[in-house]
Amino acid sequence: MADSKVENRNQYVLITGATSGIGYELANLFAKDGYNLVLVARNEDRLQEITDKLKQAYGVEITPLPKDLFRPEAAQEIYDATHDMGITINVLVNDAGQGEWGPFIETDLQRDLDIIQLNISSLISLTKLYLKEMVTRNEGKILQLGSEAGTTPTPLLAVYAATKAFVLSFSAALANEVKDTNITITALLPGATDTDFFHKAHQEDTVVYKEKSLADPCDVAKDGYDALMKGESKIISGAKTKMHVFMSDLLGQKLSASNMRKQMQPSEKKKGRTKSGHVPSRKERESIQQETGMKDGDYSNDYRDHSDA
Ligand SMILES: NC(=O)c1ccc[n+]([C@@H]2O[C@H](COP(=O)([O-])OP(=O)(O)OC[C@H]3O[C@@H](n4cnc5c(N)ncnc54)[C@H](OP(=O)(O)O)[C@@H]3O)[C@@H](O)[C@H]2O)c1
Repeated sequence: MADSKVENRNQYVLITGATSGIGYELANLFAKDGYNLVLVARNEDRLQEITDKLKQAYGVEITPLPKDLFRPEAAQEIYDATHDMGITINVLVNDAGQGEWGPFIETDLQRDLDIIQLNISSLISLTKLYLKEMVTRNEGKILQLGSEAGTTPTPLLAVYAATKAFVLSFSAALANEVKDTNITITALLPGATDTDFFHKAHQEDTVVYKEKSLADPCDVAKDGYDALMKGESKIISGAKTKMHVFMSDLLGQKLSASNMRKQMQPSEKKKGRTKSGHVPSRKERESIQQETGMKDGDYSNDYRDHSDA
């Protein structure tokens, strides 16, 4: 078992989206530093797998909480569950998020609304519920997963990018509201990162996924973790992403949208990346497939069939 920091032994971190990609890497970083974890995602088997692995590696307390944040009631249920277990959440990480690729008039309306529920409404609910307690205690930290896409209108991923623009504005406003307390709110802005996101969004055939280099979720998580610990209000992860955000500010919305569209178009290359190089994302995909019998790409929303999306 690895050494972990004793001072964090009675601290609890709640992470949504902890089974894959950036959320999984964040869970590792917190566990390594001795924090106890409450982990939220939909897939129960994968949650249990990660719980067992992190417990064994770091000896911290881990509570898996399977919940579907597409459901409007889920945030309150999570809050009630931690309350009933007598757990005080010292750090909240709102990581779970999804997108759906395609021209806006062709994407499924319910899927768009689900994404808004997950990326915005559930994030607001969890933030409200736990921030109130943090303010009462005058202590706490919140990490919100934004995105480079939140700084630029993104054709063919329009709803997703708009939800992330919301997250950035919301987080900056809250950071100001709590600036005279011991609470900090940090927004993490990754660029395109090698996770299962692209498969869930049916975005595997795009230029950005097939042809471009993608950030490593370990590096993105570390940037977010360090910024959160320092209490910074915003962190853009990686030099390439910083440059993109700078250019987008310079060019204005119309030209930036046109640049983004080129990244979101279907790639004409026959060869290219087809599956995530990130092991936990691949494992998540495999365990969901085993459990549900669904094919690749079908499980982005486990109660609707998107196989023809
Ligand atoms: N990858 C990128 O290029 C990129 C770039 C910028 C920002 N981001 C943001 O980073 C965050 C993490 O994404 P990722 O790239 O790490 O994706 P990922 O590998 O697909 O991980 C998503 C995580 O969220 C959980 N999740 C998805 N839908 C959920 C729901 N309805 N209820 C509860 N949990 C749910 C997933 O587990 P279950 O499926 O089991 O629920 C999984 O643990 C997202 O907010 C995303 O928007 C990603």
